Amino acid sequence: MTRAIRKAVFPVAGLGTRFLPATKAMPKEMLTVVDKPVIQYVFEEAREAGIEHFIFVTGRNKSVIEDHFDIQVELRDTLAKRSKFTELERLDSQMPKAGTVSYTRQQEPLGLGHAVWCAREMVGDEPFAVLLPDMIMQAPQGCLKQMSEQYNETGGNIVSVEECEPEEVTKYGIVGRGKDVPGGFEVTEMVEKPEADKAPSNFYITGRYILQPEVMEILSNQAAGAGGEIQLTDAMLALHGTQPFFAMPFNGTTYDCGSKSGFLAANVAFALSRPDIAPGFQAALREIIATRGSVEAA
Ligand code: UTP
Repeated sequence: MTRAIRKAVFPVAGLGTRFLPATKAMPKEMLTVVDKPVIQYVFEEAREAGIEHFIFVTGRNKSVIEDHFDIQVELRDTLAKRSKFTELERLDSQMPKAGTVSYTRQQEPLGLGHAVWCAREMVGDEPFAVLLPDMIMQAPQGCLKQMSEQYNETGGNIVSVEECEPEEVTKYGIVGRGKDVPGGFEVTEMVEKPEADKAPSNFYITGRYILQPEVMEILSNQAAGAGGEIQLTDAMLALHGTQPFFAMPFNGTTYDCGSKSGFLAANVAFALSRPDIAPGFQAALREIIATRGSVEAA
């Protein structure tokens, strides 16, 4: 009998240096894809998967994330006075229920593993999900929901994965592929940002995790790894020694919004899937491609 996943951790304390100067005063998690901040997409994915408690690990300059998930009384009043009920309804539908969100701070950006560890008191002694807001997905069913269904079959720990180009393994956490299980495969090893010729496969972790609470104990003593940061992948590797670990090839498309090209691709893909925007946007896109032709010509 597996214990249900009720809590999700959103690490949002990174510095976002790849997006400077956009992220000098604004968190990168608030960068917008079409008309929603990336953090909103990830929150909605967690909610679709049945998450009941949303834990944000924030840092300095991140308080706008708290404001985003709060009711703006004046804005609501103004929209109501102007009879903008569609906008009002949309805003309300995107809000967490009262009392379901918690915030804690990572005082220094010591790495993703450290950020997750900062949520240990809020997570307590139960399995939990981690969602990286850098990665947003398009799929008929959300990635965490797909993982929850696999979790009901297999239990244990699960990471979502996708295949990348062999030369891209240096950017991600990579897993080794073992025996097939329903919905995925057993993980044989994990390595953070390996050199291309040392990677165990080209399956990269796409930023969604279901983890057992014992990972927090491991993180308590975790030394810094790749890039001098406390890496979640290293802690998961240690947990892998004592607990089942599975990978779920995600049925959908992932956009790495931590990189500029991934972020721009996400904007294009999400805009093209919006009936209210797609026709005009498609025409503009065609025009740009027709007149510029290629990157060289631009
Ligand atoms: P990244 O390494 O992609 O984020 O971490 P970053 O450090 O903000 O970005 P760059 O490389 O400088 O541009 C993935 C996720 O983990 C969080 C980040 O906020 C991001 O959502 N993170 C990372 C933390 O919360 N704390 C950290 O110490 C590191």
